[in-house]
Amino acid sequence: MHLIETRELCYSYPNRVTALEKINFIAPRNARIAVIGSNGAGKSTLFKHFNGIFRPTSGQVLIRGEPITKQNIKEIRKFVGIVFQNPDDQIFSPTVEQDVAFGPTNLGLDAETIHHRVHEALSVVGIEHLAPRVPHHLSGGEKKRVAIAGVIAMEPEVLVLDEPTAGLDPRGVADLDNFINSLSKKYGMTVIFSTHDVGLVPEIADFIYVMDKGRIVAQGTVDEIFLQPDMLKSARLDIPVIPRLLRSLKENGVEISMAYTYSGAEESLLRAFGKRQ
Ligand SMILES: Nc1ncnc2c1ncn2[C@@H]1O[C@H](COP(=O)(O)OP(=O)(O)OP(=O)(O)O)[C@@H](O)[C@H]1O
Ligand SMILES: [Mg+2]
Repeated sequence: MHLIETRELCYSYPNRVTALEKINFIAPRNARIAVIGSNGAGKSTLFKHFNGIFRPTSGQVLIRGEPITKQNIKEIRKFVGIVFQNPDDQIFSPTVEQDVAFGPTNLGLDAETIHHRVHEALSVVGIEHLAPRVPHHLSGGEKKRVAIAGVIAMEPEVLVLDEPTAGLDPRGVADLDNFINSLSKKYGMTVIFSTHDVGLVPEIADFIYVMDKGRIVAQGTVDEIFLQPDMLKSARLDIPVIPRLLRSLKENGVEISMAYTYSGAEESLLRAFGKRQ
């Protein structure tokens, strides 16, 4: 049984804009899944189906094999935590600490557990020092981290991050990269994220869905996806710098094996230059 599965999911907004067409998406346990696609491809609309914010116009959304109903929606929102693209949609308490405590308080946890979870979540995203601040007076990147902390504090089994890197500085992106990997490794959390930062995808994702105009136009592992330049181009996406550079070296006669991550490329280049066996 998959944690999340959509079958032939279609969705049209009330103004009849068709945003999703026949989406078949699967999130298995402990996966790190990237959803990439240009502006308006349908990524945010798809994510809002994962915990019942939107209901399909047709087709099905199954969470742990079950459709979302009035009876199970509370449980499902504990199980699937979504961080929205725009942090202002998510932050409303007078202080950062209270904001991050909002979810765990609603779960009915005791004060000590709430305190522990809030400080753990703030530390995971590196903003313990912002605890007493007023969220609306924070920078965009700081707000983004507050919104992520608020969802992590709920300890969902599936964490959905819509454009988590938008507005983060390079250090923030590196931190995010590390914590997504550690949430997946340490806690077995399944992480689904969308991003326009294709260079980040090989570092984080095990599996990729490519969306274009409301459809899934390709799916596969990092090497399966980034070996399809024509498909990416037609979906208005770039190939990340590392595979693009290594492919060009190969095409120019350098004997080098393909790589997609920074560490993989370093290894390939050292071998190509005879510095490694
Ligand atoms: N509230 C809405 N009402 C009507 N149409 C909408 C609404 N929100 C989004 N859309 C339309 O649905 C389509 C998909 O939008 P969506 O926000 O899911 O794209 P996205 O892939 O998340 O894009 P981005 O990369 O810009 O975040 C677009 O054509 C968009 O114009
Ligand atoms: Mg979006």
